[in-house]
Amino acid sequence: MIKETISSTEMSEMTGISSYQIRKDLAFFGEFGKRGVGYPVKELVHSLKTILGSSRKWDIVIVGAGNLGEALLRYKGFQKRGFYVKAVFDYDESKIGKVICGVKILHVHDLVRFLKKWKIKIAIIAVPADAAQFVVDQLVLGGIQSILNFAPTALKYPDGINLNSIDISIELQRMIYFLNQKIKMD
Ligand code: NAI
Repeated sequence: MIKETISSTEMSEMTGISSYQIRKDLAFFGEFGKRGVGYPVKELVHSLKTILGSSRKWDIVIVGAGNLGEALLRYKGFQKRGFYVKAVFDYDESKIGKVICGVKILHVHDLVRFLKKWKIKIAIIAVPADAAQFVVDQLVLGGIQSILNFAPTALKYPDGINLNSIDISIELQRMIYFLNQKIKMD
């Protein structure tokens, strides 16, 4: 049976986020729940999708068809969240024209034109660090507004562009910091 309502305590158990934080975050966007009753599941899902912008389909591009770019391309989870990889770009002639999971690898020379034609707003950078600034510049020229960057380097970009960098090794280092704290206390 599908649940009609869900409490912040139940969501806390599912997510590991405190029920206080869940109530606080949801309250920021409006009155979703009723004290003692909980949140109506259907309405909550709808509202969250609207807030996150995931109620619509987003075409994205990946630049760099190497190990990481290909792994991201093969990841099925993006579509579940409304993200569709429209094309992958690379400069390696031996990769151009190949199709992976139904997505074509195109030459990076065609990137700006492609982005403008399809009005794509989101891109993922998966090229080596020394190529990343060139790629950012091309993405900006093509009208990209949000960039998820995996290249481990500082990048320059104009105001108004939302660039998030992800570095798994920094996350691992953070874990080591906490492990060391714990070891000291044991
Ligand atoms: P890779 O060498 O397998 O792939 C890089 C791809 O970029 C190649 O296909 C290459 O032809 C292409 N490329 C190089 N210059 C280009 C340019 N100017 N225009 C278009 N394509 C270009 O490298 P890998 O392992 O896939 O890593 C990609 C990037 O992601 C690197 O910067 C790496 O340091 C980073 N990385 C980051 C991780 C993280 O946690 N943030 C984890 C793994 C990789």
